[in-house]
Amino acid sequence: MDLHVLDSSDDACFVCANILSDYLKTTPQAKLGLATGGTPEAVYRSIIDHKVDFSQVRTFNLDEYIGLPENHPQSYRAYMEKHLFSKVSIATENTYFPIGGGYDLRIKTVGGIDIQLLGLGSNGHIAFNEPGSSFNSKTRRVKLAPQTIQDNSRFFEPGELQPVEAFTMGLATIMQAKQILLLVTGQHKAEILKRVFDGPVSEDCPASILLNHSNVKVIADKAAAEYLTACV
Ligand code: F6R
Repeated sequence: MDLHVLDSSDDACFVCANILSDYLKTTPQAKLGLATGGTPEAVYRSIIDHKVDFSQVRTFNLDEYIGLPENHPQSYRAYMEKHLFSKVSIATENTYFPIGGGYDLRIKTVGGIDIQLLGLGSNGHIAFNEPGSSFNSKTRRVKLAPQTIQDNSRFFEPGELQPVEAFTMGLATIMQAKQILLLVTGQHKAEILKRVFDGPVSEDCPASILLNHSNVKVIADKAAAEYLTACV
């Protein structure tokens, strides 16, 4: 894995956005895999600033909650509309979420994902592949780990119904992306990022599967990279 450590989370997001925007400028028909959550919000802000043409781009999101209406503010489609889709020239029919089946086939049919943006869960999950997920897993319905429910409770009002299940891209699906950007920011991710880097590659730490991918850039801020030694 190719590690890039930046001074701040904004800088890390900026670097990520530059990589994605540069790719889109040379590859207008790019297929992008996208993440939600707190980490990539600034990436999307910066991509919008680049004024990239999204008219031929197709996007595949990593996951979607089960049990929330599509227009619920915490659905991942609503998140993407708010942070990116409503601000760029993308057609809704070119934006895909893993609901309704046939997701892996759809990705394969368009030629696969060119660049997959990933965040890292504090328990080592990528997408909603929680610890114990099979490395052979495809897109499917999953139960969220208690840690994930706890981490994501910050996005829900007190007393509001919070989903405990989701559809997620599988680990095998993610590994088929041609390039992966793992964006990790904040001191609270430092321990798990070290675990990912040090291995072992194990289903106990789903993100460790990325050690087996030949084209992964880890873009981290100093806080998240605190326990790593090899810095670029
Ligand atoms: C989101 C996703 C998750 C998040 C992870 C980190 O689509 O797939 O794996 O990337 O939970 O979330 P944040 O960025 O909120 O810390």
